[in-house]
Amino acid sequence: MFKTARLVIFFFVSTSLSCVFADQNKVAIASAHPLATAAGFEVIAKGGNVYDAAVAVSAALAVVEPYGSGLGGGAYWLLHREKDNFDVLIDGREKAPLAANMDMYINKSGQVIPKLSLDGALAAAIPGMPAGMVHLSEKYGRLSLAENLAPAIRYANTGFAIGERYLRYLKTRVDVIKQFPSTAAIYLTPDKQVPALYSILRQVDLAKTLMHIAQQGRAGFYEGEIADKLITGINQAGGIWTQADLDAYQIVERKPVVGNYNGIKVTSAPPSSSGGLVLIETLNILQGYDLKTLSDITRKHLIVEAMRRAYHDRSLYLGDTDFIDIPVERLINKDYAAGLRSSIRVDKALPSNLLSGQIENHKEGNNTTHFSIADQEGNRVAATLSINYQFGSAFVAPGTGVLLNDEMDDFDSQPGAINVYGLVGGVANSIAPGKRMLSSMSPTFLETDNKVAVLGTPGGSRIISMVLLATLDFAAGKGPESWVNLPRYHHQFMPDVIEYETAAFSATDLKELEALGHHLKAVQLPYGDMQAVLLNKTTKSLTAASDKRGEGSAQVKP
Ligand code: GLY
Repeated sequence: MFKTARLVIFFFVSTSLSCVFADQNKVAIASAHPLATAAGFEVIAKGGNVYDAAVAVSAALAVVEPYGSGLGGGAYWLLHREKDNFDVLIDGREKAPLAANMDMYINKSGQVIPKLSLDGALAAAIPGMPAGMVHLSEKYGRLSLAENLAPAIRYANTGFAIGERYLRYLKTRVDVIKQFPSTAAIYLTPDKQVPALYSILRQVDLAKTLMHIAQQGRAGFYEGEIADKLITGINQAGGIWTQADLDAYQIVERKPVVGNYNGIKVTSAPPSSSGGLVLIETLNILQGYDLKTLSDITRKHLIVEAMRRAYHDRSLYLGDTDFIDIPVERLINKDYAAGLRSSIRVDKALPSNLLSGQIENHKEGNNTTHFSIADQEGNRVAATLSINYQFGSAFVAPGTGVLLNDEMDDFDSQPGAINVYGLVGGVANSIAPGKRMLSSMSPTFLETDNKVAVLGTPGGSRIISMVLLATLDFAAGKGPESWVNLPRYHHQFMPDVIEYETAAFSATDLKELEALGHHLKAVQLPYGDMQAVLLNKTTKSLTAASDKRGEGSAQVKP
C-alpha cells in the first residue's frame, strides 16, 4: 500500500552513516532503523525502562524492517537487570507446527524439494515474537503493553519512507512475493512492481493486528479473530497450522550461556540458538594463543581454524534442548577446547572433510535484525529478531498484515542436507512437531571490571563469526565504532571456504592464506548490520554505534 513521498531523501541520507555518540546521558539505543531507535526513546521519555524500550524497538522493527523480523517471526531477548545481577534469555524462537514431520520437505524419491521450506505457507513455523513482546513488557517493563506498542502502531498506520536497503531486499524476493496476492498488495505497486525509492509504505492490517495485541495481550494474536485469519489463510495456501499450535506456543526463559575469555565475561544465547555455545567454544580454542603477539596472517589463520572446529560441533550436536540432550558443559569446557586446539597446525589449514563428510553448494542471506540498549545503571537488552530469509516465507496471511517466517528452513530437512546458509545439519536439528529449529542468533554481553558491551547482528550463519570478531576487537581495547565496522571473514566448517569482505584481506594475505591451504571466496556485498552499545561502569558514560553497512541509528539520550 504505497504513496509517493518526495521530501524524505535527507532523512535517509542523514541516517545512513555510522553513528557514534558518547556522553553522560541516560540510555543508549542502537538499532537497524532510525524509527525503531526513536520508538525506544519515545517510551523512555514516557518513563519506560530499557525493557519497555526493547518492546517498542522490537515492534517498530516489525513495521519498518518487514524484510528482517516481525510478528510472524521469532526472537531472542537477552536481558540484564543490574539491581539483582539477574541475566535471562527470553527464547521466543518459532516452533514447528504439531503436524510437522521429518519428511514434509522430501519427495517420493527421498530428495529435498527445493524452496518448499523457504517460500510460502508450508515454510512458516509458529511465531514467538508476539508472545515474547507481551512477556517482556508485562514481566519486566514499567509501562503498559499498549504504550510500548504505540509507536509501531503509528508507523504502520501513517507509513514510512522505504529506503535503499528495503528495496535491495525486496528485489531479491519480488518473484516469490508476486505469487501471493495478499503479500503483493502490501509490498508491491498495484501492477506488482517494486515501488520507487522513498515511497511511503502503510500497513493498515498490521496496525490492526498490533492493536489487537495492545488491547488483549497474547490472546490478541494467538486466539480470536487474528488467530482465525492466520489459520485459515495459511491452510488455504498449503500450510498446516491449527489452533492447537497457537494455544501450545510458549516462550521459555532460559539461563544464558556464560564463558570467560581472557578476563572478559561472555554472556550469550543458549540453545535453541547455537550462537552462545559456538561463540564461547571458538573463544576457548583461541584463548590458548597470545593473539596480539602473532603475525596478522597467523592470527587470521588460527581464528579461521577455531571457527571451523566450533561450527563442526554445531552441526553435530546442536538443536532444541526440549527434544535432545546437548553436551553443553563439554562444548564450553576449556580442556575440551584445548583438545581441539591441539589439532590445529600453525602452518596448515585442516580440510573440513577430515572432520566430517563433504557437502557442497552454499548460499547466504543477510536477513534478521538486531538492537542493543543499555542505561547508565547497567540494565541492558541485546535482542536479535528474525523471520529468517529476506521477507521470510513471502506469505502474508490475508487480513492480518503478518508476514510469515520461513524459519522451518533452519531445521535440517534431511541429515546431511544444507540450508539456505549452507549450514550442514545432523539429526540433532531434525524436524519434530513442536520443536524449535536451531538458530545462529547471538545477542551478547561482554563484561570486564569497568566495561559492559551489548552487541549482536543479523546475518544467518555468519552472525556468530561476526560477534566473534567484534569480541576479539573488544578484547584488543577497541570501541563500538570499530566492532561494528570491522571488515569481516567467516568459516563455518562446510562449505570449506573462507568467505570475506574484500577489505578483510590484502592481496598478500590472500596469497599467504592460500599457501596455508585455505580456499577463499570474496562476498559480493558487505554483510551484517551490527548494533552495539558500550557502558563504561566507572565514568557511567555510554557509547553506541550502528554498522555503516546499514541505515541504522545509534544514539545516547537522557
Ligand atoms: N534464521 C536465522 C537464524 O536463526 O540464525
